[in-house]
Amino acid sequence: MQTPKEQIDELRRKLHECNHNYYVLSQPTVSDFEFDALMRQLTGLEAQYPQYADPNSPSVRVGSDINKNFVQVAHRYPMLSLQNTYSEGEVAEFYNRVKRALNEDFEVVCELKYDGTSISLTYEDGRLSQAVTRGDGKHGDEVTDNVRTVRSIPLVLQGDDFPQNIELRGEILMPWGVFEALNKEREEQEETLFANPRNAASGTLKMQDSKVVASRRLDSYMYYLLGEKLPSDSHYENLQTARRWGLHVSTAVKKCKSLEEIFDFLKYWDAERKELPVATDGVVLKVDSLTQQRNLGYTSKFPRWAIAYKFNPEKALTRLDSVSYQVGRTGAVTPVANLDPVLLSGTTVKRASLYNEDAINALDLHIGDKVYVEKGGEIIPKITGVDKEARFMLGPKVVFAKRCPDCDTPLVRDEGEAVYYCPNSSHCPTQIKGRIEHFVTRKAMNITVGPETINLLYDEGLLKDAADFYALRYDNLIQLDRWAETSARNLLASIEKSKQTPYERVLYALGIRYVGETVAQKLAQAFTDIDSLRQASLEQLTAVEEIGERIAQSVREFFDKPETLAFVGRLCDYGLQFALSEEALAQKTDKLSGLTFVISGVFALHSRDEYKAMIQQNGGKNSGSVSKNTDYVLAGENMGPAKLEKAAKLGVKIIDEQTFLGMLE
Ligand code: IVH
Repeated sequence: MQTPKEQIDELRRKLHECNHNYYVLSQPTVSDFEFDALMRQLTGLEAQYPQYADPNSPSVRVGSDINKNFVQVAHRYPMLSLQNTYSEGEVAEFYNRVKRALNEDFEVVCELKYDGTSISLTYEDGRLSQAVTRGDGKHGDEVTDNVRTVRSIPLVLQGDDFPQNIELRGEILMPWGVFEALNKEREEQEETLFANPRNAASGTLKMQDSKVVASRRLDSYMYYLLGEKLPSDSHYENLQTARRWGLHVSTAVKKCKSLEEIFDFLKYWDAERKELPVATDGVVLKVDSLTQQRNLGYTSKFPRWAIAYKFNPEKALTRLDSVSYQVGRTGAVTPVANLDPVLLSGTTVKRASLYNEDAINALDLHIGDKVYVEKGGEIIPKITGVDKEARFMLGPKVVFAKRCPDCDTPLVRDEGEAVYYCPNSSHCPTQIKGRIEHFVTRKAMNITVGPETINLLYDEGLLKDAADFYALRYDNLIQLDRWAETSARNLLASIEKSKQTPYERVLYALGIRYVGETVAQKLAQAFTDIDSLRQASLEQLTAVEEIGERIAQSVREFFDKPETLAFVGRLCDYGLQFALSEEALAQKTDKLSGLTFVISGVFALHSRDEYKAMIQQNGGKNSGSVSKNTDYVLAGENMGPAKLEKAAKLGVKIIDEQTFLGMLE
């Protein structure tokens, strides 16, 4: 009979192995169902035996929804960047420079240059202990909790031949598929789109909420090992060893003995990389022998033993036919260039983003211009320039629309903002329908109705705003063209069910500009019913963590408009949830109100994330670093000596878990 500890260890080992097979080797060994069953067993046991909590358990991959401020950490070895080259000639110069300097045989390892955000991982005794971003190269942000959610990063190394302390550097990436789906979702929510997977990956890694990070399905590639005792003097061999330890190391690596072999690699991957699931923007060349690397040394900025060759971004020249404007649910107007169809990176491009008025003016665009379209790392093609030589007949200059393309209302552009808005929010049909479409989305009220039905109901005068859903009757629907009994009943049932949607999602559904899902949750926690939110002043709003001026202003504007107040009033009358549930309220107290905590070390009774949650639910604030504003350091085993020293110096109280739990009783 196994002890609970043995069962937990066994399950963790199995799940780590499943993750590695799935995320690193792309060879799943168990079905999703079996995986979920193992995970449920593990989380069940972990809940039952909190004394065996472990930050490196595979169950932490789901992330926690606690806020954190990132701590700045000094890099043990600076994180340098590489000198870039754009031509084969410069690659040859690099090769010959190395040859002259070494004056002996050498090999060059060619690797793909992954276009994500760099990360440095430290493993102590084979366990992931720290993950730090590049930052300024000397200091970076500690993002360990977020990195733990990246499935291809092992929390525990495989085998037993790893050094006690080892640092691995690599790139965190958002795969193209995830990036496209994320942007699609953001487009629907009218949130700003990520320009490329690199920005999306680095933005995600800096998010406060590791649950959201976990949902973004980031990937990783490791390409560099650092430490006092490395397995081999060959960089190539070290990469192979890292792969054995369970890290995701690219197989697109080649040890080259001549310039010809290097050029072959460049040529092959310039074409082949388009088939890869992640973005790459070049090839990195590194001298293989670590001894030779040391002999070559560094300039003030770069290693002399490595160089990055960048692929040319794909460009095409085509004609600008017209510019059209799209209005979103918040009234934001976006310009789109309509182009003569042209083939670019394997797809036909007909439209390109023009961003805003300033971008159009900077290009000095005229209709009929021959424009350069680039895809680079971006999924949405962009216009990067105009071939002015090709202008023999100058077409009309592109001037940003003055009026709304839908309702003809004059557009406005607020000072300091790049975006034009249609101010006719209450009567502009596109905005109204856009708001209704937002209201019904899965993450909002989750009413099963598509844009076509919304259009139909709007045209029939049955749906002038989202509150009208709750006044719809069977008779209204059944008389519509091609509506049968089942579809009418289904829609009415879905509308009825939506009345149970929790308060924070109702807030999100209202479609207040800048109030996305996370902000809605923050607002609901701080203002537990609609009346207190409606009456909140700018100061009260900005006092909430992560609510800045811009959001606060937008919330105020929303509640200051008589028509939106009337809309909310009607929704209230229809019985929607406009207050935090009893259950959510029961967990909230203000016992720790006004107090700032820093959590450090390993705990026996609850996990760090649980402590963070308790602090937040009881009105306290979590902070990542000790400062004069810290009231308490909640210290577990092995608290970092630097933190301890700083807390002592500033006279900050250091408490253990028992004392902390006592404060909540
Ligand atoms: S080696 C001292 N290898 O490119 C050498 N870097 O400009 C450390 N990158 O900051 C870097 N793929 O973020 C190396 N296979 C690869 C890489 C790579 C992408 C990034 C990395 C680095 C930047 C260099």
